[in-house]
Amino acid sequence: MAQDIGIDLGTANIVIAVSGKGVVLNEPSVIAVNTNTNKILAVGKKAYRMLGKAPDYISVIRPLSNGVISDDEMTQCLIREFIHKVSGRQLLKPRIIICVPSFITDVESRAVIEAAMTAGGRKVYLIQEPIAAMLGAGVNMSKARGHLVVDIGGGTTDVAVVSMNGVVTSRSIKVAGNSIDQAIVRYMQKRHKLLIGDKTAEMLKKELTNLYDPSDDIRMNIGGRNIVKGLPEQMSVSELEVFDAVEDEVFEIVDSIRSLLEDTPPELVGDIYENGIILTGGGAMLGGLDKLINRTLNVRCNIAKDPANCVARGTVQAFKRIESLLDGFENVALYQYK
Ligand SMILES: Nc1ncnc2c1ncn2[C@@H]1O[C@H](COP(=O)(O)OP(=O)(O)OP(=O)(O)O)[C@@H](O)[C@H]1O
Ligand SMILES: [Mg+2]
Repeated sequence: MAQDIGIDLGTANIVIAVSGKGVVLNEPSVIAVNTNTNKILAVGKKAYRMLGKAPDYISVIRPLSNGVISDDEMTQCLIREFIHKVSGRQLLKPRIIICVPSFITDVESRAVIEAAMTAGGRKVYLIQEPIAAMLGAGVNMSKARGHLVVDIGGGTTDVAVVSMNGVVTSRSIKVAGNSIDQAIVRYMQKRHKLLIGDKTAEMLKKELTNLYDPSDDIRMNIGGRNIVKGLPEQMSVSELEVFDAVEDEVFEIVDSIRSLLEDTPPELVGDIYENGIILTGGGAMLGGLDKLINRTLNVRCNIAKDPANCVARGTVQAFKRIESLLDGFENVALYQYK
């Protein structure tokens, strides 16, 4: 039998899951091209290592950024390369479900579907991120009960209330992993006159974020360039400082959940208070975020198991439910390519 493939086309990472196997690939959405010959040199992890370090004739880009597709053609190449990587030389063509970024246009969706078809897809479907995230988190959303999912990726945070396999209300904001990294870069520059790279900022975010009870004693050494002297400098940074740096961004995320709750029909809000909020996406691992949401909104908050792979797992699980999702619940936006 042909393998079914589920793809989470994230702006930071592309994750692919295969039926019966689970997640088989999780790599950065980066592609490197030789601009003289237009040949693809590397994709994913290998291309990521070249970011900021390649000579002029090599262009290393993120064709999906800020929650949108900024380069159609390169996005198509990326999708094709990754599908070939996981499907190999199958005799039967796979069915493919893709979860696309939330700000993508219809034209861009078509481009994504086309890329998957030319990479050997027999049938290609699209699925909405909140539905895939819920499936991946193992939530039974077929009943008339409300669930709230918050997916914090690299480019966007998507907040949605789901009931009866459909999205009831939702919201997307462009505050997520990347903008939090940028907030740390700005803070270090303003406060300490230290210019740090994006990768250093991301590392600080992962290692030193404590949104619940940040301490001044837990510290880490980082390196950057002093913008006054122009020379390299080492500096110790505390949890408290990282909290200061990311506070505004994080509260924008919390506010978007609050405002979604305000727009949700009261019966469903009652369910959400009982069921709790589910956090998915890489940003769900921000230190103490679950506790902060619990304290600020007074709703229980659970982090999905293996949150960064949750959407991809849910995408491939959607195949088991494709009939019910397609026939019964058009809201689900699972389109068949014609
Ligand atoms: N332990 C961690 N703590 C905080 N943030 C993390 C952690 N691990 C990963 N991240 C962040 O998660 C983000 C990537 O998440 P994910 O892979 O879900 O994004 P994506 O699906 O590609 O993006 P999008 O959904 O916006 O298209 C990055 O910004 C990364 O820095
Ligand atoms: Mg995502």
